[in-house]
Formats: sequence, C-alpha cells, structure tokens
Amino acid sequence: RIVHVLNGPNLNLLGQRQPHIYGQETLADVEAQCREVGEAEGLSIEFRQSNREYEIIDWIHEARTVAAGIVINPAAFTHTSVAILDALSACDFPIIEVHISNVHRREPFRHHSYVSGVAAGVIAGFGTQGYVFAIQRLARLIGEAPA
Ligand code: DQA
Repeated sequence: RIVHVLNGPNLNLLGQRQPHIYGQETLADVEAQCREVGEAEGLSIEFRQSNREYEIIDWIHEARTVAAGIVINPAAFTHTSVAILDALSACDFPIIEVHISNVHRREPFRHHSYVSGVAAGVIAGFGTQGYVFAIQRLARLIGEAPA
C-alpha cells in the first residue's frame, strides 16, 4: 500500500527556518525517517513538498487514485485553505494531520485548522517524530480497513 506524505509551504526550509520552533533537522532527514518507518510498516512512501497551493491540491487528487492514506502537514495553508479542505474531503481513505510545533501554544491564528475536521487524527508538538507516529497510525488504520 502507498501512503503520500505531503508538506506545505516553507517546509523546504526546515533546519534553517526558526530552528528554535521547528528544530535542526532538514526535510530530507524527515523524508529518511518516513521511509524507514514506512519500510518497517510495509508501506511505500511518496514524500513531497510544495510552496504552491494548487500543486498540493493536484497531489491530493492524485493520491485519491493511488494511495491508501495521506499524512499531511499543510503548514500555513492549514489556517487558510478551504481548497485543501475540499480536496481532502473528496478522499475516502484516512488522513492524518501533522504539525511539528505545538500550534496551540503559538499565535491564536494558528489555533484553527481547516483540515482537522476531515482528519482521522491530528499530531502537533512532537517535532518531526510526529511524522513517524502518523505513519504508524495510518498503517494500523489501513490494516483495519475492509479491503
Ligand atoms: C506548522 C505550523 C504552521 O502554523 C506553520 O504555518 C508552519 C508549520 C508546523 O509543522 O508546526 O509552516 O504546520
């Protein structure tokens, strides 16, 4: 089974961008961790990042046809994008929302997520380890789903 791990804007700067908030690891490090846990769970990981909202929407549409689940860190689009919510709403498989930082102890505008209402679960504040937990949880949900 295939799981798409989708990352939103500015996450390409992970490791350089506000390291006191997001840590020292790069997105390549996160991708390596995701591949490792994917392999352990028997899942094939498709890992992507974009700064463009339309590209993330197109990737969600693509995932609908090939994937068994999505892990998504929509980054700032979490708090702004009805379009990403609508694309995710068209998916029949489980979606896990991940945030590296604990958005709930940050600025109030980060407290609302358009995505959480369609997510099977939400992970925030566990650093990049959140991606690992999300993939493990998806593996469980996919395994429980009727084939
Ligand atoms: C983020 C939190 C968002 O509020 C922010 O815009 C990001 C990253 C996180 O992973 O903690 O870019 O999604």
